Amino acid sequence: VAPRPNAPQEVSPARRCAYAVLVRVFEHGAYADEALRAQAQAQALSGRERALAMRLAYGAIQRRATLDHVIGELAERDVGRIDPPLLNALRLGLYELLYLQGSPAYATVAQAVELAKLQARAGHGLVNAVLRRAAREGPAALLGALPEDTPERAALKHSHPAWVARLWWQTLGPEQARELMAADNEPAEVAVRANTLVADPDALAGRLPVASHRDPRLPEAIVLEEPFDLHASPLWVEGALSAQSRAAMLVSRALAPEAGERVLDLCAAPGGKTTHLAALMQGRGEVVAVERDRRRAGVLARTAERMHAGIVRVEVADAAQPRAEAPFDRVLVDPPCSGLGTLQARPDLRWRIQEDAIGTLARRQREILDAGASAVRPGGLLVYSTCTISPDENERVIAAFLESRPEFVPDGEAQQTLPHRDRTAGFFIARLRRE
Ligand SMILES: C[S@@+](CC[C@H](N)C(=O)[O-])C[C@H]1O[C@@H](n2cnc3c(N)ncnc32)[C@H](O)[C@@H]1O
Repeated sequence: VAPRPNAPQEVSPARRCAYAVLVRVFEHGAYADEALRAQAQAQALSGRERALAMRLAYGAIQRRATLDHVIGELAERDVGRIDPPLLNALRLGLYELLYLQGSPAYATVAQAVELAKLQARAGHGLVNAVLRRAAREGPAALLGALPEDTPERAALKHSHPAWVARLWWQTLGPEQARELMAADNEPAEVAVRANTLVADPDALAGRLPVASHRDPRLPEAIVLEEPFDLHASPLWVEGALSAQSRAAMLVSRALAPEAGERVLDLCAAPGGKTTHLAALMQGRGEVVAVERDRRRAGVLARTAERMHAGIVRVEVADAAQPRAEAPFDRVLVDPPCSGLGTLQARPDLRWRIQEDAIGTLARRQREILDAGASAVRPGGLLVYSTCTISPDENERVIAAFLESRPEFVPDGEAQQTLPHRDRTAGFFIARLRRE
């Protein structure tokens, strides 16, 4: 017998997990990835349940601006006046109704109401009323009519802060800005890098539990068709692979270090690029990996060990300080940035980053770039990379640098990958040579 549309429902483990993640992120300021990891572990979710919980939680977090707009309209009140535990149940239920549509609407509504009941003493009637109305009206009526003819309206439709929409409107033009924002709400690519120090990429692809495809430009990249719990895999423990976007892999490839060289890696933790450099060098030479944060430096050292990157020497230091030792053949500068190229994978980031942080970041980036540049030997190479789409942190940092350091010249065009076009994270990569 099918459950009656209004019968109380047992909340599924994936929804319970997703709801807990929303509460941790929006009520307690937690990071979405850490909250998901902790909650999935606490509930001992299966791989499938975890994947569904991730889809629900990340989607509802990313779509918050659009969801809150619809909730405000349907509830006929300002969302700021809705109790946070109820609001988060509404966001989760509405996200599922409007964007996923995998389950029968009555089950989605009933389970959101149950979540609200568990967390809030009163008010679940509102959750029931709003979600039932949303289920009746449907996505075409509620979302289809949202305009996107100005940056502010497109920001609401594609759920981004208005300043980000304005920035991309100016930088990329309206059409690409809209496509980029739409892509930011899709699941991130799930890519792994085969550690060529210990594994053959083709053989490794065959040992993975999910289907995958390859990228002719990056022989070490394996792009998975669906996520799996990488960290629980023996392949991860053996150091045969690590999770990394293809855009991030392009960075170490751009530096292109050779076996036996001395390489400086500034701002190195958690070590994705450091260990890639060591693999490209076939484990011969030296990589000095500089990280200021002691805890993150510890993570980096453990990653290097797991990935059999014995040529990595971790140093806890400020990368902006001048260096005393002999100059390096190649230097990578990968400083902190606004991260606007990684909004698919970091769903809460768009709601954290403030417009006025960009100027401060750009100044720090320039200081670290200058220190890195001074450590390059004549004839050596310098690569500057960020995971953002923000001219102040990218093109303008490089232009100002080249202006004041005439001994450096661009080595090829700078690259900017774009999630909607390249189906990977948005990275900026500039390669410069010291004459
Ligand atoms: C973009 S992340 C680096 C990612 C890393 N290259 C990788 O591929 O895994 C920036 C890192 O720089 C560190 N950092 C920030 N300011 C620094 C400074 N002045 N000196 C050294 N490290 C710094 C941060 O703690 C953070 O770990």
